[in-house]
Amino acid sequence: MRQIVYVSAATNPLSDKDVSDIVAKSQFNNAMADVTGFLLFNGTTFMQLVEGPDRAIDKLLDRLYTDKRHHAITVLEDNMIEKRNFPVWTMHHIRLNGDKQHRRETLARNMPIDLKSAVMRVVTNFTTLN
Ligand SMILES: Cc1cc2nc3c(=O)[nH]c(=O)nc-3n(C[C@H](O)[C@H](O)[C@H](O)COP(=O)(O)O)c2cc1C
Repeated sequence: MRQIVYVSAATNPLSDKDVSDIVAKSQFNNAMADVTGFLLFNGTTFMQLVEGPDRAIDKLLDRLYTDKRHHAITVLEDNMIEKRNFPVWTMHHIRLNGDKQHRRETLARNMPIDLKSAVMRVVTNFTTLN
């Protein structure tokens, strides 16, 4: 099993509807492909964690790299893992309107094994820019 964490830049301004469309499509595809994870978007930057079978992640990365809605994909973590961090999230959109404590708790509640503390820090410090 492989887990990737990356950040990328939105190419054009995206509406809430655009982001919900990405999340809905992701949830559908990921459920079929046994991929799980979460997505954050602050108006300009995405941060996403995806985890699942190697081949499913390879295929997803190919699609992500050619998706014109974002660019400048920078992989922060690329690790082989024994177990998923987020088995129940086909693709959870972590909203940025709550406070950091709430976000940390939501993650912790849905995370049977610990997430790398550096990743946890990036997630909890991600803020809305608009
Ligand atoms: C920031 C971002 C995150 C995405 N995350 C996923 C994902 O987790 N799973 C997925 O299947 N597609 C994801 N996509 C969409 C893919 O790039 C691609 O458009 C989609 O998988 C194509 O699906 P289709 O071949 O079924 O039309 C994401 C796109 C963006 C811009």
